[in-house]
Amino acid sequence: MPTPTTPTDLTRRAFLAASAGAAVSAAAGARPASAPAIGRKRADTVRVGLVGCGGRGTGAALQALRADPGAELHAIADAFPPAIEPCLANIRQGLAENAGAGAPADSEHRSSPDRANWYTGFDAYQQLIDSGCDVVLLCTPPGFRPQHLAACVDAGKHVFCEKPVAVDGPGVRSVLESARKSKEKGLALMSGFCWRHQNQVRACFDKVLSGGIGDVHTVQCTYNTTGWVTPKPRKPEWSDTEWQLRNWQYFVPLSGDHIVEQAVHAIDWIAWAFGDDTPTKCTAVGGRQTRPNVPETGNVYDHFSVTYEYEGGRRGYHMCRHWPNTASDNSAYMTGSEGNCIMSPWAGTHVIRGKNNWRGTTPGNDMYQAEHDELFKSIREGAPFNDGVRMAHTTLLAIMGRMAAYTGAEVTWDQALNSQEKLGPAKWDWGPLPMPALAIPGRTPLV
Ligand SMILES: NC(=O)c1ccc[n+]([C@@H]2O[C@H](COP(=O)([O-])OP(=O)(O)OC[C@H]3O[C@@H](n4cnc5c(N)ncnc54)[C@H](O)[C@@H]3O)[C@@H](O)[C@H]2O)c1
Repeated sequence: MPTPTTPTDLTRRAFLAASAGAAVSAAAGARPASAPAIGRKRADTVRVGLVGCGGRGTGAALQALRADPGAELHAIADAFPPAIEPCLANIRQGLAENAGAGAPADSEHRSSPDRANWYTGFDAYQQLIDSGCDVVLLCTPPGFRPQHLAACVDAGKHVFCEKPVAVDGPGVRSVLESARKSKEKGLALMSGFCWRHQNQVRACFDKVLSGGIGDVHTVQCTYNTTGWVTPKPRKPEWSDTEWQLRNWQYFVPLSGDHIVEQAVHAIDWIAWAFGDDTPTKCTAVGGRQTRPNVPETGNVYDHFSVTYEYEGGRRGYHMCRHWPNTASDNSAYMTGSEGNCIMSPWAGTHVIRGKNNWRGTTPGNDMYQAEHDELFKSIREGAPFNDGVRMAHTTLLAIMGRMAAYTGAEVTWDQALNSQEKLGPAKWDWGPLPMPALAIPGRTPLV
C-alpha cells in the first residue's frame, strides 16, 4: 500500500494501513512527545470530527487528540455558530496544559480545523461527515443521537457516541440497527458509558461477576443529587426551538428526562451486575416535587424510582432525584448468595463482605481518557471496539423506567423496545415548537 502524499489521499483504509508503526506505540500505551511540524501533516493522520461543542464535546475532542498522536481535529459542528470558537479555545488550552505530561503537543493542525470545516445548524452533522472525517464524536443532546449515528455508520465512520444514545423506543431500534451495521462494516463504536472504563469500578465488577458475592440476586443503585444545570430564562429573540434547545436537559424529547440523560450511568450498573442480561418488565414511580414551576424547567420530573424484574426472581432497584438540600448518593448495592458488595465510586468505596471479603485497592484513572485511548488503539490494531448493542440496551433500561413512571403501567422490555412513541418533531427547524406535556400517571398512555 503506497503511503498517501496529501491529507485528502488518506482514506480510512489508508489510515489503518499507514498506521502499523503507530499501533505498536499505542498498544504499549506510549504517547509520542512531538507532533509534526506546522504546515506538514503526518502520514498516519486520523481526522476527527466533533458534533456538539458543549462541555462534553470539548472534553471528548481533547481526549481524542490526547489518545492518538496522529489524531487531528478536522471538522467541528454545532447547532449554534457562537459555540465553536470557545470550544476550540478550550481544546487548545487543554492541549497546552497537557503538553508537559508527555502527550502529543498541539500544532496548528491538531486542534484547529480549517474554517471551511466549521459547520452550523441542524444539518451540520451531515456536512461534517461529508467533509471526510475518519472518527466522529457525537456529543449533542441525546434526542439527535440516533439520526446522527445512523448517518455516521452509513458513511463508514468510526464513532464515539455519548450516552444516552436515544430518548425513545424508535430511537433505540434505530441505534440497534446502526450498531448491527457498524459491526458488519468493521467500524468502531465506543459509547460514553464511562464507568465501564474506570479501573476501580471495573475491578469491583470483575470480582462480583467472578463469584465474589455468589449468584447476584439484587442490585440497588442510586443517582441522587441536589441539582442540575441552571435553566435559562427565555430571551425575546429566541424561537420556541432555540429556547428548548438552550434548555435541552429540561425537555423530554431532547434529553429523555434525567433518568435517561444522567441516571442512566447508575442504571448501567444494574445491567453490568446481571451480565448485561435484559429484564422482563418494570414498574416505577416518579414526579415533579421541587422543580420551580417556570417554563424553562420544561416537562421533566425531579425524581424516579424503578423496580426491574429479571428472570429467576432477580431484581434491580433504581432511585434518582434532583432535590436541593437533600442527601446525595451515587452507589450500587449488590446482594448475592454469598455476600454483598457496596460500590460508591464518588466516595472511592469498593467493598465485598461475606464469604470472600475484599476491598478494592486498584489505582484510579481518568475514565474519559481511557475511553478514547481504547477506541483509537482498537482502530489502530484493526480490532475495532464496539459496544453498540450494550449502549442501546442500557439506554432502553432507563427509557422503560421513565415510561413506567410516566404512565403508571407495568412496562415489559418488549413493549419498551417496540414502543411507537416518537418524541420530538419529525424534522427539527428553528420555527415554532409546542411545549411538550407533563406526564401524569394513570392518564398518560403507554404508546
Ligand atoms: N459521559 C458523561 O459523563 C457525560 C457527562 C456530561 C454530558 N454527557 C452527555 O453528553 C451529551 C452533551 O452534553 P453536554 O453536557 O456537553 O451538553 P452541552 O449543552 O454543554 O453541549 C451540547 C452542544 O450540542 C449543541 N447542539 C445541540 N443540538 C445540536 C444539533 N442538532 N447539532 C449539532 N449541535 C447541537 C449545542 O449547541 C451545545 O453546544 C449529552 O448526551 C450528555 O448526556 C455525558
